[in-house]
Amino acid sequence: MSLKEIAAPIQDHLRKFDDVFASSIKSKIGLVDLVMKYIIKTKGKRVRPILVLLSAELCGGVNERSYRGATLVEILHTATLVHDDVVDDADTRRGFPSINANWKNKIAVLIGDYLLSKGLLLSLENDDFEFLKVTSSAVRRMSEGEIHQIQKSRQLDMDEPTYLKIIGDKTASLLSTCTEIGAASSTMDAEKRALLREYGESVGLAFQIRDDLLDYVGRKSITGKPTGLDLSEKKLTLPLIHALAQAPKKEGKDILSIVKNGGKKANVKRVLEFVERHGGIEYAASRAREFSTTAKHTLASFPDSESKASLIAFADFVVEREK
Ligand code: IPE
Ligand code: IPE
Ligand code: MG
Ligand code: MG
Ligand code: MG
Repeated sequence: MSLKEIAAPIQDHLRKFDDVFASSIKSKIGLVDLVMKYIIKTKGKRVRPILVLLSAELCGGVNERSYRGATLVEILHTATLVHDDVVDDADTRRGFPSINANWKNKIAVLIGDYLLSKGLLLSLENDDFEFLKVTSSAVRRMSEGEIHQIQKSRQLDMDEPTYLKIIGDKTASLLSTCTEIGAASSTMDAEKRALLREYGESVGLAFQIRDDLLDYVGRKSITGKPTGLDLSEKKLTLPLIHALAQAPKKEGKDILSIVKNGGKKANVKRVLEFVERHGGIEYAASRAREFSTTAKHTLASFPDSESKASLIAFADFVVEREK
């Protein structure tokens, strides 16, 4: 199912979300507002608001708080992407020049901070303290995950458990925040909230494994962001981690020294050939499918509905997506 079809049960709500989002990030400072307009023009898939709204719908129905929850998470997501492109030195995002490419790192760092504060203020001003509680620990996990990843890329050693910890922190934390906040906006039932949080955590792991796969096998014209960037940043992700575990020691050592010396285009090709030959691509895809299946099982106790069907289809979407 396409994301558009998945979002069909909440289509009108998503349009309202767009309005709340745009008005929540406005600024009276010309340059800030210019960048905000650029962000709105170059919007992404809106995966996180879709998750908030579908979860809210599943647990009793979308309401005003659900829109604010959806806006909060998309603002935080946008802030992390703006910072991420500085950290990863990425010049393209969503098919357009990244904020750092257009306005330099200084502005991108400060714009990320501006967005983070606007997200938190939106919740504070509306007494959405529960949202803040859930979100603050996600923000902590995201920052620690990103730094943990840098630490590992400097040491250039990584195993699968550590990789899963990192992607859980940097990505799944926010997706589980989305599903938990969505549920919290529409039910007091602690069991339902916990199940949705778990669903988000599993689907989030699958989402990032797919993202890391697309960095190897995706096409920039479709993903809208650079490929091969993880290698050039010495980031060891699941396809390579698995290949290294399978390959003879000597061969693995040679590949690691190529990665260490920087991932030029020709090198990326050689590493990709190594990863493919040792089943890294297939393995990562199968791990993503396992997390996707786990996510679907988490929803078993919910009665059938359109929103439940969409959340199940979303778990399939994350492992099949090309962008
Ligand atoms: C990109 O997220 C960052 C990751 C966690 C991999 P998305 O793929 O949801 O980005 P947009 O918002 O659609 O551009
Ligand atoms: C970043 O992962 C996820 C975040 C928490 C920002 P990536 O660095 O792989 O994200 P992309 O590929 O640039 O979107
Ligand atoms: Mg990046
Ligand atoms: Mg990154
Ligand atoms: Mg990536």
